[in-house]
Amino acid sequence: MFAKVEQIIGAIEAANPQTPEELEQFRIQYLGSKNTIKPLFGEIRNVPNERKKEYGKLVNKAKVTAENKFAELKEKLEAAADEASAQALDLTMPGEPLELGSRHPIATTLNRIVTIFQRMGFAVVEGPEIEDDWHNFTAMNTPEDHPARDMQDTFYLKNSTELLLRTHTSPVQSRVMETQKPPIRIIAPGRVYRNETISARSHAQFHQVEGLYVDEGVSFADMKQTLMYFAQEMFGTPKIRLRPSYFPFTEPSAEMDVWIGMDNEKNYRLSKGTGWLEILGCGMVDPNVLTNCGIDPEKYSGFAFGMGIERQAMRLYDIHDIRLFFENDVRFLKQFASVV
Ligand code: PHE
Repeated sequence: MFAKVEQIIGAIEAANPQTPEELEQFRIQYLGSKNTIKPLFGEIRNVPNERKKEYGKLVNKAKVTAENKFAELKEKLEAAADEASAQALDLTMPGEPLELGSRHPIATTLNRIVTIFQRMGFAVVEGPEIEDDWHNFTAMNTPEDHPARDMQDTFYLKNSTELLLRTHTSPVQSRVMETQKPPIRIIAPGRVYRNETISARSHAQFHQVEGLYVDEGVSFADMKQTLMYFAQEMFGTPKIRLRPSYFPFTEPSAEMDVWIGMDNEKNYRLSKGTGWLEILGCGMVDPNVLTNCGIDPEKYSGFAFGMGIERQAMRLYDIHDIRLFFENDVRFLKQFASVV
């Protein structure tokens, strides 16, 4: 009995598999579920009592020897395989160059805008691009017969008069006011859609940043100061112009232009020969909008603005065709690789 176990131990120690297949054979033979060592434990019945302990130890030694030998052989074979594959590699071959991506000019422009408003304490929120009629129009005080609601201007979802692609970021105003109490100070960047003919100057999709500030005693002067600071940071000049305008959701309303001058052809073209670049619509939040969103207009007032991003990006990077932003031609995008 003892001799048999000794013999198996000897065989284990002498084993020298050269391939993964042979190693697997070894494993099955000595460590598998039907291995050669297991029945040896049962044989202890036939060993005289005074030697049982000694026998148990020996069989155990066989088991441990098999385990250690397996681990050792496995490591040896793996190291050999690594070595072989390293030799097969030519480490002096040049690598494949990785194409590095870069940020889209709309994204870098947006980042600048967001950073400026964050410094003034505005928080960034987002709303859905598929909106319902209430948030896009009704809550924003836009009456049933307003031309913006027309199919000609708005993309409605198929078979729906309720769901549409938002025409501006203003619905985020109503979503925020429905769920937050003043003081509210947010900006909401995002993509918007209008059913427009696509040309060098206009597109059916573009980007806006909405702004909303509601608190007790917020005035038109606060709005003007905020927007002036923005113009200073973004365009390097506080010279702005507020022109009276109309939006259903603000009263009074204005459009804001920034002075970019016309001392070069680029600015002349972008400002249509006026020197002024129109960048946003704004105004004091209409009391009806506050009421629609559950905020008491007797106690609170606020201002709001919505600015287009494309036009600012065109000015920043000297781009003359808005369509370039959406075609994603890599020859165009690569030019912004150094912009962060
Ligand atoms: N939503 C308006 C537009 O898309 C811009 C705007 C926003 C005007 C907020 C006033 C206040 O033209």
